[in-house]
Amino acid sequence: MPVITSPEEFNTEDLYVDLRPVLGSPVYLKCEGFNFAGSIKLKAAATMVEEAEKAGLLTRDSILVESSSGNLGVALSMIAATRGYRFLCVTDSRCNPATRRMMEALGAEVHTVTEPDGEGGFLGARLSHVHDLCAADSRYVWLNQYTNEFNWIAHHRITAPAIAQRFPNLDVLFVGAGTTGTLMGCARYFRESGRPVTVVAVDTVGSVTFGGLPQPRMIPGLGAGVRPQLLDPACIDDVVMVPEPETVRACHRLAAAGFLFGGSTGTVVAGAQRWLARHRPDAELTAVAIAPDLGERYLDTLYQETWVREVYGDDAPLAPLTVTRG
Ligand SMILES: Cc1ncc(COP(=O)(O)O)c(C=O)c1O
Repeated sequence: MPVITSPEEFNTEDLYVDLRPVLGSPVYLKCEGFNFAGSIKLKAAATMVEEAEKAGLLTRDSILVESSSGNLGVALSMIAATRGYRFLCVTDSRCNPATRRMMEALGAEVHTVTEPDGEGGFLGARLSHVHDLCAADSRYVWLNQYTNEFNWIAHHRITAPAIAQRFPNLDVLFVGAGTTGTLMGCARYFRESGRPVTVVAVDTVGSVTFGGLPQPRMIPGLGAGVRPQLLDPACIDDVVMVPEPETVRACHRLAAAGFLFGGSTGTVVAGAQRWLARHRPDAELTAVAIAPDLGERYLDTLYQETWVREVYGDDAPLAPLTVTRG
């Protein structure tokens, strides 16, 4: 029985859903949403704050500031509350209302950018707001998840070794790409380990991370309007791009089987299905995909019929899908 005194101390690192009976796909889905921050970003947030403390960057007057589509913001709100810091999150209008309220409930201040930047989209606009804040007041400390090495190091220290230990014969790992912290931490770990693991990045159509053209994207978490500085494409074996309607369809299929996951999980699962169908259709292999969070934060968006119709129009993936069992 775990007994804790701080919410950071609890995380479920060893829970997988076997998608074979659920979707007919030979994939183990690593669930990262079972902690008090509700997402994989707890590990990046905790590691970045701990290392900033060790480096003497944080004082009692410091105000943490970060640009986040939501989940890192929630994790930092929680950590700031437990460690006695102030925290200001700069997000944008795509951030789920529930996520924004969660940050505020944890004591954070939230600034919401409503206009995308000409070239860099919403991310560009958020980053320039953070720059302005830091230039105006020296108390702001920007951990900067887009450049901070400890973002990927968190996954190199925790996420990848946990997968390696549970799946000694791992063949393929599917990881969604936002800041690419999770992706780079896992890719570097498996490359260094010398194990023949194929690491496949999964991204959203409309993201520029892997050289695609920028297009509007509505589901937070994955994708970027500015190429992530942490990305080293040499560490990655392949990339799959998933259109958002396919993400929604995958989420609805998982929900129809009782698993309510977040948007990026739908993208990663859809990407894994595409990649396996193309590259290993008949092969017996061990594949793992990472599910960054759960579905409650998306009830007003991708699990809401009106929202899905408004956003995707004729592409609206609303038809109930058959769940394959057995
Ligand atoms: C729901 C969700 N999925 C995926 C990601 C991407 O993770 P990373 O930034 O490590 O690439 C994030 C990051 O915020 C997220 O919140």
